[in-house]
Amino acid sequence: MIFEQTIFLILFFYNTMSNNIKKDLLLFNDLINSFLEQEKHTPSNYYIEPENLYKTLDIGLNENPIKTEFLAAILKELLEKTPKSSSKLFFNQLYGGRHSKAVLGDLLAVFLNNSMATYKIAGPQVAVEKELLSQIYKIIGYGKNAGGTIPTGGSMCNFMSLVLARDRALKDPSQDISKLVVYTSENSHYSISKNVSLSGIKKENIRYLKSDNFGKIKIIDFKNQVYKDIQRGMTPFYLNATAGTTVLCAFDDILELAPICKKNNIWLHLDGAFGGTVIFSKKYRFLVNGIELTDSFCFNAHKTLGAPISTSILTIKDKKYLYESFDTSAEYLYQTHDEKFNLGHTSFECGRRNNALKFWTLWKSIGRIGIEKIIDKEFKIADVARNYVITHPDYTLYSFKNSLSVCFNYKNFDPEDLCKKLYEKNKLMIGFGTFKSTKFIRLITINCQNSEKEVLNVFKIIEDFVKKFNESLKTVKTKK
Ligand SMILES: Cc1ncc(COP(=O)(O)O)c(C=O)c1O
Repeated sequence: MIFEQTIFLILFFYNTMSNNIKKDLLLFNDLINSFLEQEKHTPSNYYIEPENLYKTLDIGLNENPIKTEFLAAILKELLEKTPKSSSKLFFNQLYGGRHSKAVLGDLLAVFLNNSMATYKIAGPQVAVEKELLSQIYKIIGYGKNAGGTIPTGGSMCNFMSLVLARDRALKDPSQDISKLVVYTSENSHYSISKNVSLSGIKKENIRYLKSDNFGKIKIIDFKNQVYKDIQRGMTPFYLNATAGTTVLCAFDDILELAPICKKNNIWLHLDGAFGGTVIFSKKYRFLVNGIELTDSFCFNAHKTLGAPISTSILTIKDKKYLYESFDTSAEYLYQTHDEKFNLGHTSFECGRRNNALKFWTLWKSIGRIGIEKIIDKEFKIADVARNYVITHPDYTLYSFKNSLSVCFNYKNFDPEDLCKKLYEKNKLMIGFGTFKSTKFIRLITINCQNSEKEVLNVFKIIEDFVKKFNESLKTVKTKK
């Protein structure tokens, strides 16, 4: 009798739970439909001063439950007032837009909720990740020993690569961590310095290499710094080169850097978080010529390919380093199958989200050729924007061709003030950047849903805004 009652209760709860999920999915559908409509009609922001958030929105948490219809109303308003990162007016950070097939894959991953640590937990999702990675190794040309993983983001990819390089250097018992020197461009992403702190390397042992006028590492500076460090008894061990620097989207010259690294036993990592997806394009692959000579490489499909955050791929030329640094036994976790199918052996995280499925779903549906078309279109749109700036005398251009970042100033308006006011007045979400002490507006063309029309519209919005608010805008001396 007790047994039957227990079964009845389990079935009751199971049915209630599965009914709830079905009802909540219907609610999800309603919420997203109205969000998409709103995103179409009011694509920018709904600016609220941070101190007014609690007064404007029902954010406070309560002691007692509330009815689903009230929750639905609160969620609807919360969605409406959240910045629309996938809209046609979002150019703020290095992502934007959503590819529907990648979103589909990610929604499924949320629903499945498998951690990617073992075959027992993730089953065929392990093959999804392995297939994705192995196609990427082939495209890079890393050879049969290649390995990789899908960490939580580009910063984590960079961190893991630094740890691999550090551990390789410290295998030599005569080495001392306090002597290890990291090289990176003055234009590299800020994760490099954070990662140095995390990895136990001294902060003063980072050398920020000077860049040329196009934002690429000056080869001579790298050579000189390495030479000086060796003279001082230090050990150069890691170079972070960038494929698409965060502000200018400049591509460091791997063919020039690789021989210096090889000669001095320096691990060459290529941070392609922003521009690394050029590997999929026949037309733009030349920007990472020599990529097969690197020791590790990463890119973010969530930046240029419309995959939801985060979709970051880390690849290593020789997977033995991944095992040497990250493989640890854990009887409570690894209970079936070997390390080829238990991906936790080469990852940093234990409970790791399935970030492969969205990229795999995207690739499966549009093919490698479809991915190539996305990249080529984004570069083409950047050309159109650059051309607009060049041909309109009220603009000054600060960026270069073969880049997804178009940097400019309009007349002599202060870019920082202009970007802030465009945002606060809900006109446009765009940011500014600095290169060689000049500040400018940075328009990035990496929303895979945008066309030339949306990007040209940015200039129109800026021009109309300036006409209307001319009096209240700050000006600066512009540098040509
Ligand atoms: C060049 C570069 N590297 C790394 C990152 C960090 O990537 P994530 O935001 O996924 O940590 C970024 C982000 O903008 C970047 O531009």
